[in-house]
Amino acid sequence: MKVVLIGAALAVAAYGTVPLGDASRGEALFRSQNCVTCHSVNGEGGRAAPDLGRGQSREYTPALMAALMWNHAPQMWSAMEKAGITKPQLNSQQSADLFAYFYAARFFEHKGDAARGRKAFVEKSCSECHSLSPTAKGTGPEVLKWNQVTDAIELARQMWNHGAPMQAAMKAKGVKKPAMTAMEMNDITVYLQNLPQAKGLKPEFAPASAETGETLFKAKGCAGCHTGARSLAKPGVLRSTADLAAAMWNHPVLAEQKSPLRPEEMKRLVGYVWTLQFSDEGGAWARGSKVFESKGCMGCHTNGPGPRLQLGEKANSFEMVAALWSHGPTMQTAMRSKGVAWPRFVNTDMADVIAYLKRGQ
Ligand code: HEC
Ligand code: HEC
Ligand code: HEC
Ligand code: HEC
Repeated sequence: MKVVLIGAALAVAAYGTVPLGDASRGEALFRSQNCVTCHSVNGEGGRAAPDLGRGQSREYTPALMAALMWNHAPQMWSAMEKAGITKPQLNSQQSADLFAYFYAARFFEHKGDAARGRKAFVEKSCSECHSLSPTAKGTGPEVLKWNQVTDAIELARQMWNHGAPMQAAMKAKGVKKPAMTAMEMNDITVYLQNLPQAKGLKPEFAPASAETGETLFKAKGCAGCHTGARSLAKPGVLRSTADLAAAMWNHPVLAEQKSPLRPEEMKRLVGYVWTLQFSDEGGAWARGSKVFESKGCMGCHTNGPGPRLQLGEKANSFEMVAALWSHGPTMQTAMRSKGVAWPRFVNTDMADVIAYLKRGQ
């Protein structure tokens, strides 16, 4: 199966300097940097190391990826030495690309269910207007005549574009606009994919550029409302593309919806909105300062031979990944000679250290 998402692309001047990731570039890197020799993603690739497309799906954040890489780096490096593989160098852009790729792979973990989808289609009163058989009559177009739906985002796009007339039809029929959850969006998508006319269409790897997503976010009027308290740059609410799809359906209907979104526009918007949540990694300086001390970082970086660290706006998880790959081996040698144990980052440690390194000591 090909991987689909919305090439995650991270924001952006107004929200800091987090690099914009791109899942398709990440996939290429995964091969060119030899990660694929030992690791697989969703079953494809090496077996010597953990599959990087599995697990922790909803909680998968840049900080978690950075923590896992730091924690496992020494074992990884010795495995690389044994296998005669040169240690890769990743810059923060490439780390962002890899994150987008791993995230995209995880996106498929929570597959929808066609039977549940059929049930939701009826329970959410979609079937009141959209008939499932060619002979029956309904207010809305019968399902057999719909455009192909390959993923929840495409379903949301079509529902968004038809939102105003649909809402009017609902009003006329006395049907309340049903609220949808992410799971229901996935389920209905899978249900639609399994209808006879949809067979054979597979989701494709469909990255979208968030740089242009931001432009569109302004052009379509989204930015006008989504500032301040309504800013979408907050952690945790819109983890998966199905969450976004549901949010777009539950969204109040706008006058702007009269200008329909094209598929690539929807992907760009979603790529941008999705990445906004990672622009604030949610760490705390005070906790970070304790982590920095207790893990021995201070011993070298404040009071010892290591360079003084003040990353400023550059401080983010991707920068920490880049630092690991470019400075880690030297750091490891220094730690060994000082008798400092290699650090392990748990819970919010990584995000906290980042908050600490951002503001400085
Ligand atoms: C020579 C084999 C090898 C290569 C090449 C390799 N790794 Fe690893 N990696 C490992 C091993 C072995 C582990 C598990 C180490 C442990 O158990 O502590 C690991 C662990 C990890 C983890 C933590 C996984 C988890 O969920 O706990 C991440 C993330 C990771 N590697 C990323 C990468 C990336 C990105 C690349 C390419 C830039 C890469 N690795 C290249 C062998 C490798
Ligand atoms: C009260 C009637 C009504 C209900 C209930 C309703 N729709 Fe619609 N729907 C319509 C109408 C009318 C249109 C055509 C709108 C237009 O002409 O732009 C439409 C269009 C659509 C389209 C675009 C189809 C195409 O042409 O490709 C999709 C997708 C869709 N609806 C999904 C849903 C889903 C999913 C639900 C349940 C959550 C739902 N609708 C509930 C009336 C309804
Ligand atoms: C007229 C003001 C307005 C405009 C324009 C607007 N929105 Fe919204 N948006 C809202 C409101 C109101 C909510 C509901 C917030 C709530 O329920 O707390 C919302 C919610 C959302 C959510 C869900 C947020 C969450 O935390 O779950 C997303 C995603 C979203 N909008 C995206 C967009 C996009 C993309 C556009 C542009 C195509 C857009 N919005 C344009 C007012 C607007
Ligand atoms: C034993 C000493 C030592 C300890 C302990 C140590 N470091 Fe380092 N660190 C170094 C050295 C030396 C370098 C520079 C390596 C090089 O030049 O490649 C470095 C480089 C770095 C860099 C890259 C700096 C840059 O310019 O981009 C970061 C980030 C970093 N360390 C973070 C940490 C963190 C976080 C900890 C605690 C978990 C830590 N270090 C613990 C010695 C140490």
